[in-house]
Amino acid sequence: MQRERASFVARNIASQRLFARAQEVLLDGVPMSWMTMWAGAFPVFLREAAGNRLIDVDGHEYLDFCLGDSAAMAGHAAPPVVEAVARQISRGTTAMLPTEDATWVGEELRRRFGLAVWQFALSATDANRWVLRMARHITRRPKVLVFNHSYHGTVDEANLVIDADGRIRTRANNIGPAVDPRGTTEIIEWNDLVALERALRPGDIACVMAEPALTNMGIVLPAPGYHTGLRELTRRSGTLLLIDETHPFAAGPGGCTAEYGLEPDFVVLGKAIAGGIALGAYGMTREIVQRLSAAGVDREDTGVVGGTLAGNALSMAAARATLDRVLTRQAFARMRALATCFTTQMEDIIQSRGLPWHVTQLGARAEYRFCPDPSRDGGESAAAADAELDTYLHTRLLNSGILTTPFHNMVLMSPSTTAGDVDRLTSALSSAVDELLDCG
Ligand SMILES: Cc1ncc(COP(=O)(O)O)c(C=O)c1O
Repeated sequence: MQRERASFVARNIASQRLFARAQEVLLDGVPMSWMTMWAGAFPVFLREAAGNRLIDVDGHEYLDFCLGDSAAMAGHAAPPVVEAVARQISRGTTAMLPTEDATWVGEELRRRFGLAVWQFALSATDANRWVLRMARHITRRPKVLVFNHSYHGTVDEANLVIDADGRIRTRANNIGPAVDPRGTTEIIEWNDLVALERALRPGDIACVMAEPALTNMGIVLPAPGYHTGLRELTRRSGTLLLIDETHPFAAGPGGCTAEYGLEPDFVVLGKAIAGGIALGAYGMTREIVQRLSAAGVDREDTGVVGGTLAGNALSMAAARATLDRVLTRQAFARMRALATCFTTQMEDIIQSRGLPWHVTQLGARAEYRFCPDPSRDGGESAAAADAELDTYLHTRLLNSGILTTPFHNMVLMSPSTTAGDVDRLTSALSSAVDELLDCG
């Protein structure tokens, strides 16, 4: 660790200088707090990126398996997105008027995810917040339900966790909450239908908010039959079901919703869908639209669902190009095959060295975790965290020119990733593991 840390500092003189300068004017020296979470004493500063390659200000080239924690899953500066954005920016970006692109994107999202009607935000966080408001308004119920160690953005209601002793707590980072989320939210473990049935029984939950497979504490797949049970129990109790596809979109062109044949009331998307330009989206069924109308919402007014730049012409042009020409069915087939290739190679490393680890794949993304078997829920997966081992592996990968997502052991394929790139990653991981084993 000492060697890797020293090597990181020695390699990244220009980044270190920029970080020192930024300390004067940016909170914690970064424009957004999570950028401090990279391994190494400071984040490397970006010069430019294209496809799955990124160059920092010290001139090092990185193979990018982080891809902006999914937001660049289409690859950096994908040429169709660059063209569409350049064209649109020279024609005006935001006018509080709809463009034909928005309709095209709505039609495409309906085709892929099956939800009839769509609206846009600038982030998945906002889309989630707005759906929760709609759900509470329609059902006249006060609460939401989330799963332990899921993440839905900086959504107040989702900012709680079940700790190792089984107590429900607000997350340690929950600054200035308007209300304690323990009053607004039920939280249970994923894959537990008995707990779900119990939580829905009082009839006070407006909406269950679910990633269709957990992706924010390792990857925790749904147990066979879990989604059927989730849908049956929510329908039976009059609870709406929101499927958050922000990360699980990696499963395929229509995310897990299409892969698993899900029938949610709402779907939320964000991050990757506009090829790196800010956009969130939420789809709803016709029944939801009717219920919204029946509940008498003044949808023309600002209310608390909407934003000036939401649905802007630039985001919609970028989303059209991304969905039409980049994150296509064919691209997903290639990306999934590469993630399978990584998973198989990682399984070989784990088995041949007798490591108590496992690796889980969800479409184009895969994640290794420091426990021998796939976890059944978020609590189990969280118990397998090893911050020191994470830091060592991440720093070593950074020093060998490979980026993986800092607060995960997640690797994500883009349309530009190649089999050779995957080989380079697994060979870097296997030599890191061998060195650790040599150290005893
Ligand atoms: C499942 C899920 N939903 C929503 C979000 C929020 O996305 P954003 O921060 O882009 O709003 C995230 C972010 O990681 C996520 O993983």
